Amino acid sequence: REVILPLGLQREVDARLRLFLSQKPMSKGSFSDNSLSRSGSDEGFYEQQEPLIKNSVVMERILQRRSLQLRDKQQDWQETPEGQKMLEFRRSLPAFKEKDALLKAVSENQVIVVSGETGCGKTTQLPQYILESEIEAARGAVCSIICTQPRRISAMAVSERVAAERGEKLGDSVGYKVRLEGMKGRDTRLLFCTTGILLRRLLVDRNLKGVTHVIVDEIHERGMNEDFLLIVLKELLLRRPELRLILMSATLNAELFSSYFGGAPMIHIPGFTYPVRSLFLENILEMTGYRLNSYNQIDDYGQEKAWKMQKQAQSLKKRKSQIASAVEDAVEAADFKEYSLRTQESLSCWNPDSIGFNLIEYVLCHIVKKERPGAVLVFMTGWDDINSLKDQLQSHPLLGDPSKVLLLACHGSMASSEQRLIFDKPEDGVRKIVLATNMAETSITINDVVFVVDCGKAKETSYDALNNTPCLLPSWISKAAARQRRGRAGRVQPGECYHLYPRCVYDAFADYQLPELLRTPLQSLCLQIKSLQLGSISEFLSRALQPPEPLSVQNAVEYLKIIGALDENENLTLLGRNLSTLPVEPKLGKMLIFGAIFNCLDPIMTVVAGLSARDPFLMPFDKKDLAESAKAQFAARNYSDHLALVRAYEGWKDAERKQSSYEYCWRNFLSAQTLKAIDSLRKQFFFLLKDTGLVDQNPENCNRWSHDEHLIRAIICAGLFPGICSVVNKEKSIALKTMEDGQVLLYSNSVNAGVPKIPYPWLVFNEKVKVNSVFLRDSTGVSDSVLLLFGGNISRGGLDGHLKMLGGYLEFFMKPALADTYISLRREVEELIQKK
Ligand code: CDP
Ligand code: MG
Repeated sequence: REVILPLGLQREVDARLRLFLSQKPMSKGSFSDNSLSRSGSDEGFYEQQEPLIKNSVVMERILQRRSLQLRDKQQDWQETPEGQKMLEFRRSLPAFKEKDALLKAVSENQVIVVSGETGCGKTTQLPQYILESEIEAARGAVCSIICTQPRRISAMAVSERVAAERGEKLGDSVGYKVRLEGMKGRDTRLLFCTTGILLRRLLVDRNLKGVTHVIVDEIHERGMNEDFLLIVLKELLLRRPELRLILMSATLNAELFSSYFGGAPMIHIPGFTYPVRSLFLENILEMTGYRLNSYNQIDDYGQEKAWKMQKQAQSLKKRKSQIASAVEDAVEAADFKEYSLRTQESLSCWNPDSIGFNLIEYVLCHIVKKERPGAVLVFMTGWDDINSLKDQLQSHPLLGDPSKVLLLACHGSMASSEQRLIFDKPEDGVRKIVLATNMAETSITINDVVFVVDCGKAKETSYDALNNTPCLLPSWISKAAARQRRGRAGRVQPGECYHLYPRCVYDAFADYQLPELLRTPLQSLCLQIKSLQLGSISEFLSRALQPPEPLSVQNAVEYLKIIGALDENENLTLLGRNLSTLPVEPKLGKMLIFGAIFNCLDPIMTVVAGLSARDPFLMPFDKKDLAESAKAQFAARNYSDHLALVRAYEGWKDAERKQSSYEYCWRNFLSAQTLKAIDSLRKQFFFLLKDTGLVDQNPENCNRWSHDEHLIRAIICAGLFPGICSVVNKEKSIALKTMEDGQVLLYSNSVNAGVPKIPYPWLVFNEKVKVNSVFLRDSTGVSDSVLLLFGGNISRGGLDGHLKMLGGYLEFFMKPALADTYISLRREVEELIQKK
C-alpha cells in the first residue's frame, strides 16, 4: 500500500492532518484577511469614529472653529511664494475650469461620473475641491473623504502630492492607507487608500459611519476589486442617502457606469495633449537599415536561431556598435511565417519574448544618443522582467553610465523611497529612463516623459495576494491600452512612441480589455466572495456591472464543493479559507497546501509553478522526435508529465550551479526563460505559504519527503481530482475514458502518449481540450489507493459521505470492489491517527 506511507511519516501525517482538518488556529491576518493588518498599524483605521456630538451646541462651535483654523492655515500657505506657485500650477490644470460645475454636481446628486484625459487633474484636484468646499462651508472638521486607488503605489504617490500642494505634512488633513502601511492623523479628512482597504473596512463597518464622500478612481480599468466595490456601494447608497459617490475614469465609457447607478450625471473634463508620433517595429527596423522584405526569408527552425542569438547578444553587450545586427538576427529568429496575415493568428506567431530585451536596449541607445532631451517611459510586463532588464542595462557602457542615464524602475512592489525618484527631475544632461508596468498607463503621471517604449504586453493582473490572481502570464494589451501608453509621451510637448511590434499585430489587438471579473476564473472569485463574507455567491454576482453567466457560477460553486473548499451550505471550509489567500487556481492551491502539510514542498511548488507558467518543454516542429525523446528521459518509469517537469527543473538547478544551464537547456529542449519564471514563482509561493502558517517551522523539514514519488503523485491527485480518467490497457493500445466525455485521447506532447502500456489504473490530468475528440494535456498515473484516499474531499461527510461521492466514479468505471478496499484503507488510517 504505497499510500500508507513509510512508517516514520505517519506521526507527521497524524499531527499535521489533525491540525489541518480540525482545529488549526490560524495566525491572525493569514486568511480571509489578505489586506488586513498584521502589524498594529492598520488597527485604528477599522475602528468606528468617535461619537462627535455629545453636547451638540458646544460640539458644533468647536467644529466650526476647527474648520476656520483649517481655512486660515490654507490661506496663509497660499500667500507664501511656494504656495502661490503651487496655486498657479493647480489653476493651470484643465480640471480647474470645471471646478464649479463639479462641486455643484456633487452637492446636487448622490452619484456622479467624471471622466477626463490622464493628467487633467481628476485624482489630485477633485478630492481637494471637495475638501476645500467643505472647509469653506465650515464643515471641514466633520467631512471625511475617501478616495480609492487600484494600486498602493498610486495611493501613496497621490497623497504625497496633494499634501505638498497644500503645503502640509502627509498625515495632516491628507493621508493614505495601504496594506500594512499608512499615514493618517487625527485631523485627516481626505484619505487615499487602495480599493482592497476600503473593502476590508466595509467588512467591519458596513455603513461607513462618518464617511461623507467616497471617490472611486480609475474605474475604467474594470479591476475585480473595483467592480466588487461598486456592487457593495450600490446597496450602501440606499441605506445612506446623504453619502456621496464620485466615480472617476480616464477614458470615455462613462455611460456604462452612469446607467449602473440609475443614470447618474456625467461630467467630462476636456483636456489637451500634444501629438505623439507612433513608430511600429517596421519603422524602428528601418532606422537600423533593416529591410522589411527580408522577413520572407524565414528559417524553418526559428528557435535554434533564437538560442544562438541570445548567446551572441550576451557577448555583444560589450560591443555596442553591433547591437543593431543583434536586433536583425533576433527579428529573423522570430517566426514570421504568417506575418502578413492581418488576423488574430499573427499574434500567436509573433513572439517577442526572445528578442524583447535587445530590441529595447537598441531603442534606448538610439534615444539617448540621437533624440532631443526628455524622459523615457518603458512599458514592460512585470517586475521580474523589469529587474532583469535593469540588471542587463546597468552593465551597458552607455545606458549604465550614471552621468548620462538615470535608470529607474516603477512597479507595485517597490519601496516608497524608490518611488519618489520617478517624479524628480534629473540633473541637466542626464536622461531619466523609467522601466514601468502598466500601472504607469493611467494612475501615475510622470511629467517630463517625451518618449514611450511599448512592448505591447501586460500581465493581466499584477501579482498580488490581495487579488486572487490565477493568471500570471503576460498577454497582449488592448488598442485602448496601447493608445493610453502612447498618450503618456505627449504631456509637456510633442512626443514619440516606439511600439515594439509590427503594425499588423496592433491591428489584431482587441478594442478594450475584458473586465477582470469576466476573465478571472470564477472558482477563485467565488472563494473571494465567501472570504469577504458577501453572502450568496450567485446573488452577489448577479448584481455586478456585467454579471457572469449563471451556469458558470453554478459550475464553479459545485466544483468548490467537490474539492472541499465549500461545504454543502456554501460556507467556506478551513481549506477554502486557506485557498482564498493563495493567488493560484484552487486546484493548484490545494496542491500547495498538501505539499506543505506533507513536507514535500519543493517538488510540489515546481509542479504548481509549471502549471501556472507555460510549458518549459519546447517542441520545435521539425525536431519533434528529438525533443520528445529528451522529455521522455525525464519521465523514465514515472508515467507523469508533472514528475518529468520536476526532474527537468531539478536538473536545471544542478546545471545552473555548475554554470552549464545554457547547454543543459539546449540539449534537453527546455526554455531557460520559462524555467526562470518557474523559479521565481516558486519563491513567491514559498512566502505565501509561510504566511498561511502551514509550512513546517523548521525549514529542513519542509522537504523531508520530497524524494518520495508516491507521495508526490498522491498530492498531484489531490489537487487535480476530479480531473481523472480510467486506463484500460489493450493488447497494442491504451483506452482512456472519463465520466463526462467517454473516450478521450492524450496530447502527443504528453509522456504518456504512445507508450505501449501504463501500469496505473488511472490518470489525473490538469486540463482537457475539445477539438474533434477530447484531448488531455499533462497527466500523471495514479493507483487505486491513491485515488481513494486523495481524490476529493476526505474530511467531508465522514466515511460514508466520501464513499458516496467516490461511489459514482467507482460504479461508472465498474470497479465497485474498490469500495471495500477503500473502507478498509480508511479504517486503517483512522485507527492509526487515533492511536497516535
Ligand atoms: O488623475 P489625472 O490623471 O486626471 O491627473 P492627476 O493625477 O490629478 O495629475 C494632475 C497633474 O498633477 C499632472 O498632470 C501632473 O502634472 C501633476 N502631478 C505631479 O506633478 N506630481 C504627481 N505626483 C502627481 C501629479
Ligand atoms: Mg488619476
